[in-house]
Amino acid sequence: MTWTSGQVTVRAPATSANLGPGFDSVALALTLHDTVTARLQPAGLSIEVTGVGAAAAALGERHLVVRAVRAACDVVGKQPPGIAIHCGNDMPQGFGLGSSAAAIVAGLLAGRALAGDSGRAALPDDELLRLACQLDGHADNVAACLAGGLTIAWTSADPEPPGPRSVRLQPLPDIVPVLCIPDQPLATQLTRQALPGEVPLADAAANSARAALLVTALTSRPDLLMDATDDYLHQRYRAAAMPGSAALVGRLRAAGVPAVVSGAGPAVLALTLAGARAGVTTVRTIAATAGGLWRVLPLRVEPEGAQVTAGPAEA
Ligand SMILES: Nc1ncnc2c1ncn2[C@@H]1O[C@H](COP(=O)(O)OP(=O)(O)OP(=O)(O)O)[C@@H](O)[C@H]1O
Ligand SMILES: [Mg+2]
Repeated sequence: MTWTSGQVTVRAPATSANLGPGFDSVALALTLHDTVTARLQPAGLSIEVTGVGAAAAALGERHLVVRAVRAACDVVGKQPPGIAIHCGNDMPQGFGLGSSAAAIVAGLLAGRALAGDSGRAALPDDELLRLACQLDGHADNVAACLAGGLTIAWTSADPEPPGPRSVRLQPLPDIVPVLCIPDQPLATQLTRQALPGEVPLADAAANSARAALLVTALTSRPDLLMDATDDYLHQRYRAAAMPGSAALVGRLRAAGVPAVVSGAGPAVLALTLAGARAGVTTVRTIAATAGGLWRVLPLRVEPEGAQVTAGPAEA
């Protein structure tokens, strides 16, 4: 095989998973990105990180982006002689915005692109999704990071091929996602421990109606967004671990803004509609008086999945 001689650049979007009832399955890509640039060097590993997580460059081979680049090259069957990586990070880490998925997806795509034609042959898209899912521990964020837009991820009972699947849907253009980001992060692992092993059947039934409604509301019936973002599976169990987020979700919903905990939290996502009475200004006003420090960030849905923006063209 021949390594790509130039540098490759990958831009990966942040993602908000769950959106209330779509626990571990539904996610939305957002217009907030991290960028990874990689190129071959004669020997060794150089890693530089600017922006969020700059200190993590000291992790070297244990840095998540490096681990993902290495994982892609392992599948190709060969590690490069040496590699230089630059990460330009805009997305906050550990807030429920899919930063780990973006790091993994960007690293895998960079490793695959460096390996040129052999990379694409050894690691086709469905295999890349499977590997990304394995590294992140769940498929929801990586599916939306790879495809953009709105995605549903699941594991098929059909073992051919084994592993996760995902489908991409186009959300309505007038949906304006507004993130409310507190000043302290929370590790996904900690909030997962708060979840029960079993839930009452009545809650499961109520949640399945809401999850089906969620897809309908985001793609054709935005008037249903309030009921469609009502969750029975996870937010109530995690509320004690993030009381400020639970309180903000409650206050936004009471004011008519469909709001949910973003991913494993503690960021809150409000799904406002362009031109609606309860819009970005309402979110700002409520966040300013909700207690704690909240950074309010109006975004758009990112229609494009993670892409190699410079380097060899992806077929
Ligand atoms: N760009 C990055 N480069 C290196 N490591 C990263 C990067 N982004 C995330 N990580 C690692 O992943 C951890 C955050 O992952 P975690 O899954 O807890 O949060 P998240 O992915 O931001 O949110 P969520 O999974 O709930 O959407 C960070 O503490 C860091 O160790
Ligand atoms: Mg994560």
